[in-house]
Formats: sequence, C-alpha cells, structure tokens
Amino acid sequence: MSPDERKAAGQALNVLKSEIETAITGRLEILKRGARAEKLAVERIDVTLPVDDDEGGHIHPISQTIEELVQIFAEMGFTLAEGPEIEGDFNNFTALNMPPDHPARQMHDTFYLSPAADGSARVLRTHTSPVQVRTMLSTKPPIRIIAPGRTYRSDYDMTHTPMFHQVEGLVIDEATHMGHLRGCLTEFCRAFFQVDDLPLRFRPSFFPFTEPSAEVDIGCSRKGGELKLGNYGDWLEILGCGMVHPKVLEMCGIDSTKYQGFAFGMGIERIAMLKYGIPDLRTFFESDLRWLRHYGFSFLDQPSLGLGLTR
Ligand code: PHE
Repeated sequence: MSPDERKAAGQALNVLKSEIETAITGRLEILKRGARAEKLAVERIDVTLPVDDDEGGHIHPISQTIEELVQIFAEMGFTLAEGPEIEGDFNNFTALNMPPDHPARQMHDTFYLSPAADGSARVLRTHTSPVQVRTMLSTKPPIRIIAPGRTYRSDYDMTHTPMFHQVEGLVIDEATHMGHLRGCLTEFCRAFFQVDDLPLRFRPSFFPFTEPSAEVDIGCSRKGGELKLGNYGDWLEILGCGMVHPKVLEMCGIDSTKYQGFAFGMGIERIAMLKYGIPDLRTFFESDLRWLRHYGFSFLDQPSLGLGLTR
C-alpha cells in the first residue's frame, strides 16, 4: 500500500479492532453473569427451612454443657449473668484483691489490649470472676448468679487453648457459709455427672479473692487406664472456690460486716471432656465437622430451657 492508503486502512482496522474487543468483553460479561446465576441457583440454600439432623445442625458440646449447667443452677435459684470479654484491669484484677504487682497476676498469662481512652489498662478477661465484681457493683444483696462465658489466656497445649470457657458462681447473703458452698457444689456435681453418690473432697487452697479458699476434687477410678467417676477412692480436681474475701466485698461497695458469701469457678471444657469422654481440649475449637458429628448433640437433645444462649 501507498503511505496514504496505509493510513486510511489502518484507521479502519483500528475501528474494527475496538468493535471486536467491545463485542468480546460484552459477551464475556454476559457468559460470566449467566454462569454465576446458574451456580447460585444450583447451590441455593434456604436458611429458613428446618434443619435436617442427618445433614448437620449439631449443638456444640460447649453450648450443650452450658445449657445443662445453667439449668441445674437455675433450679437451685441462681439467675444468669453475663459480662464483656474485654475487661478493665480493675474488674479483672484489682477489685478481686489483686492490686498491680500482685504475684498472682503473673499466673494468668494475660492478653493486654491498648489502654482505654482514660488511660486505664484493658485486658481480655482471664477468668469469669470480673462478672462477680460487675454484679456486686450493680445490684444489692441477696445475690445468686451463675455466669458462663469465654475467657482468654496465652497458653496452648493438650489441656490449654488461648480461648476457653469458665463458669462463675456467686452467692452473697447475710448468713451464707462454707456449708452452703459445699452443699451447692455437691448437688451440682451429682446432677451434672449423673452419679448419685459422687463424693467431693475440699482441699485448702489459695485465691486472692476468697478466704478461706478450696480446690474441689471429685471421686473417680483410673483402673485399667479408664477414667470412671464415682466413689472409687481416687480423686480428680475440677474447680476452685471459697468464701468471698471481705476486701472484695468492700471494693465492690458491699458492707462486709453485714454480708458474706461464696464464689466458685470452673472450666467448662474440662467438665464437658469428663462427662462426654472427649480426650483433647484443642479439638473443641478446630471446627472439624467429623468431630462435631461425633461429639455434637442433636438439636432435639437440648435441655428444654429456651434461654437463647448462643455460644
Ligand atoms: N477465677 C478463678 C480462676 O480462674 C477460679 C475461682 C473462682 C476460684 C471463684 C475461686 C472462686 O482460677
């Protein structure tokens, strides 16, 4: 072609080229949209349909255990209390008789967060005991609460996960004593583990927020490498408890010359593992569906409590 012809033909070809390009991208877009619509139609899930138990829809053992223990304590007259997972240093430690520099703080492997707007320290709560503090600060005795929830410590092995669950109990009244604590926990353990003559052993212990303090063991047998709960002469530790320290009562605005009470705390994974024979704590939070199908509960098994607890 002559230079002039080449120029004219080049322009015409460029027009054609961009027309073809537009046609291709347009068609591609239509095909893509069509494929997506087809995929959505095929994979459509109607979340309003009732759950088919054969296909999934299992209750996690932690949720089931929480429902069970709340039901047992509710029958004993306890009400449910909850608190936030991000706590102030005061609620998690200081009000529980652990001032800054208290050595017991080191045992908590605390996750510290950036300070609050007023400069005070914030933590992921290391136990459910701050719910005690919140309840005492906001309500007048008599108090009788049970507070299950998530807790956090920087720890990870066969028996520790950085996030775990505890349940806290608190009773404050004018004439509450250690005997009530013993009776209450005995009643709970027997009902929860469904062993009528399950023996409990109270061993002296130390917590900064209770005085006296005790650790509680339940009777068991380890014969033949198999763990069985009951009156068999061997012991297994399951919880910590004690009479609320007068300093804690005072820091929470309760007159310690008039009121006293007890508190206890236990790990929910631990009691779930014992009751349902789950060997490794870490598996609770691996979200393995095969595990959940094996250890999970049918939604029909749920205790008829209707509390709407979702965790
Ligand atoms: N908060 C304690 C812990 O996490 C448990 C506890 C609660 C002990 C209440 C006594 C009374 O170790």
